[in-house]
Amino acid sequence: MLAATGKKEGIIRALGAVAAIVLVAGCASSGTPIPAPQSQAAQLFVEKCGSCHAVPHPARHSADEWPHYVALMEQRMAERDKPPLSEQQRQLIMEYLGEYGR
Ligand code: HEC
Repeated sequence: MLAATGKKEGIIRALGAVAAIVLVAGCASSGTPIPAPQSQAAQLFVEKCGSCHAVPHPARHSADEWPHYVALMEQRMAERDKPPLSEQQRQLIMEYLGEYGR
């Protein structure tokens, strides 16, 4: 009986982990295609901002909010040994987010 209870708890814990992953994925993904997908900025954005999670839609945040998130994401990149954004790459991404942010 005890063993059966343990198994059930294991399953519940596993379900919790799955739910957490779904939540994180849901937080950063969007079904709406991003604007001007052929532009150099959009392609850089997809490359740099879509490697850990689905690329977020620019309208997810305002032009005022984006610098905060991009700074946070640069920390995440450093933590995960991803190559940092160059000054030029950051600028291009910021211009893109500034133009299409909500
Ligand atoms: C190294 C992996 C990594 C890269 C690369 C990355 N992110 Fe993230 N991102 C995360 C993680 C992890 C989270 C979950 C929240 C947290 O830990 O800050 C997240 C969450 C987010 C969110 C969710 C916050 C919200 O609720 O709106 C946005 C927006 C976001 N990232 C934007 C970006 C942008 C823009 C870039 C490119 C500049 C980027 N990410 C690149 C790891 C990454």
